[in-house]
Amino acid sequence: MTYQVLTGATSATLRFPADFLWGAATAAYQIEGAATEGGRTPSIWDTFSRTPGRVRTGDTGDIATDHYHHFREDVALMADLGLKAYRFSVSWPRVQPTGRGPALERGLDFYRRLVDELLTAGITPLLTLYHWDLPQELEDAGGWPARDTASRFADYAALVARALGDRVPMWTTLNEPWCSAFLGYGSGVHAPGRTNAADALRAAHHLNLAHGRATIALRAVLPSTAQLSITLNLAAVSAHTTSPEDLEAARRIDGLANRIFLNPLFHRQYPDDLLKDTAHITDWSFVHEPDLADIGQRVDFLGINYYSPTAVAAADSSRPSPDTAQPGAWPGCDNISFPPVPGQRTAMDWPVDSGGLHQLLLRLRDELPALPLIITENGAAYEDHCEPNGTVHDPERIAYLQAHLEAVHRACADGADVRGYFVWSLLDNFEWAHGYSKRFGLVHIDFASQRRTPKDSARWYANIIHTGTLAR
Ligand code: NOJ
Repeated sequence: MTYQVLTGATSATLRFPADFLWGAATAAYQIEGAATEGGRTPSIWDTFSRTPGRVRTGDTGDIATDHYHHFREDVALMADLGLKAYRFSVSWPRVQPTGRGPALERGLDFYRRLVDELLTAGITPLLTLYHWDLPQELEDAGGWPARDTASRFADYAALVARALGDRVPMWTTLNEPWCSAFLGYGSGVHAPGRTNAADALRAAHHLNLAHGRATIALRAVLPSTAQLSITLNLAAVSAHTTSPEDLEAARRIDGLANRIFLNPLFHRQYPDDLLKDTAHITDWSFVHEPDLADIGQRVDFLGINYYSPTAVAAADSSRPSPDTAQPGAWPGCDNISFPPVPGQRTAMDWPVDSGGLHQLLLRLRDELPALPLIITENGAAYEDHCEPNGTVHDPERIAYLQAHLEAVHRACADGADVRGYFVWSLLDNFEWAHGYSKRFGLVHIDFASQRRTPKDSARWYANIIHTGTLAR
């Protein structure tokens, strides 16, 4: 594979390989709407968003971008952009409403239609099985802190594989299990909104187990050519200073953000330092001996979601933590702070620093040299406005994406094996606890009329896909 840099007198052109997988991503609860149609039952995000005070704007995903009814138009937009691949998720309660038992064929039919539409347009589907919408009935039975949820997930994975395995070549078990465990059960800013450090750690293990058991189930059902994966939001952690205290803080956060997933998935063990750091919270007796062999199943690629870097310091009360470092999200780390990274920020107040992505990709090159990587999400929210003439100018998003694609190219030139890149997101959508107030899309949505308007960034991205090059 070649990652050439073609230089001219005043500019350079970065060339990506011809088979690089250019895509965009979405998730069921964030775009589908149709929350009560076709026999779908509530997920934890329906319950959470309908609870006053949970979503800042009071929004729910009841209608969202109404993709359930607009999917043909949305696939046409993708085709217009020249996307090679589309990453979407299946809503568990739409296809297995109680989280156990038989499939709801009406629900599966929606995804059959969507996938067929994609294939007809020449777009490769990358299906995520779990993007945070646990059937409420399973939460009522204990949710991710309950061991049984991992078995329920493996059954659900097999059920979706039997329905769609003949037409979906690429599969991801879980999206960002860190968020499900630590924002869902630790800080409580995500559904189901529970705040218990021990439960968050149990949830993390059961999510790992769910991934492993689902991978076994998928391999048993899918054709041998199917590519299986998990998507992690690994943190590009750096210590604020080289003081021993800051380095120690960075080690602890690396354990809870990264190695709690990477080690069991790829080395079949939990890190000793993580077990020690959290021993006052739990004895980890929920890890049963055979679990680690199940978790460490071979995957064909690793999905990486990256938005911004994570600076870490020993606590210093004079240094405020940014909005993104929610209390409770880091069990046992109350004495650690997240000093703001200087520089530009997105509408999420997240720092813009593509260097973190490069750092992360080189770490994975070194630690998991044989594993192909795909950037399954990267993107930024900005205050976008649709002009009366139907244009949306989003130069900041273009600059963000450009910088991050340059970082991907540089990492590949340095030996990282990145096979594809998916912009988050295809469409403006329901941004979890921020509701519709944060726009990440390449395509603007007028939520009142459901009108879709490609932003300047969509045209810019289409040109990159078309030429396979990035002008610098
Ligand atoms: C990661 C999540 O997977 C996605 O659902 C979310 O919208 C983006 N980050 C932006 O926060």
